[in-house]
Amino acid sequence: MAYTIAIDGPAAAGKGTISKAIASHYGFHHLDTGLLYRAIGAQVLQGHDAVDAAKALVAEDLDPSRLRTPDVADAASQVAVIPDVRSALTEFQRRFARRMPGAVLDGRDIGTVICPDAEAKLFVTASAEVRAERRFRELSENGHTESLAEVLADVKARDARDSERTTSPLRPARDAIHIDTSDLSIDEAVAAAIAVIDARRD
Ligand code: DC
Repeated sequence: MAYTIAIDGPAAAGKGTISKAIASHYGFHHLDTGLLYRAIGAQVLQGHDAVDAAKALVAEDLDPSRLRTPDVADAASQVAVIPDVRSALTEFQRRFARRMPGAVLDGRDIGTVICPDAEAKLFVTASAEVRAERRFRELSENGHTESLAEVLADVKARDARDSERTTSPLRPARDAIHIDTSDLSIDEAVAAAIAVIDARRD
């Protein structure tokens, strides 16, 4: 049986970094499910229909370097409210979750909708201010010119849209363990996540 680890949480809480580190620690596969929605958002920005794009999605569309821009993040959050987009992506994610010897999936609805039976579930959060600061630094390093205030407004708008949508809103699974990374270094956050998963595996 494959071992599935579901990691959910809002934008820039540290899910991606933690998920990658955990996957490498346990030798598991990793899927950043945000990239699926970003790839569709990018296609919508080019004039394509969101549901058609979701049905035709292929691995080559998931190149992170093209997809980590504020415009694409915003478009991703908008296509993510469309139920037919979400259902077109469900089977791919569930199949990925069963890859041997195990898989880490990070997103918004992994523990609640995609993998409700995941062996371990984490909900990773941090304050909106800390998350905006992190995203601001990342964007500045990559040559983007948004101000910190703009990034904070964007983080809050995405939080609201992701949490308030009807289909698969962002919320913790009942059995998810919460990790608040506001005051943790990357190493501390990863260590906390591994401790939680090791406790589950025992
Ligand atoms: O994690 P991210 O910032 O790359 O995600 C981009 C958007 O995709 C996010 O605002 C909401 C959506 N998303 C989702 O609805 N469900 C997921 N499992 C992952 C992302």
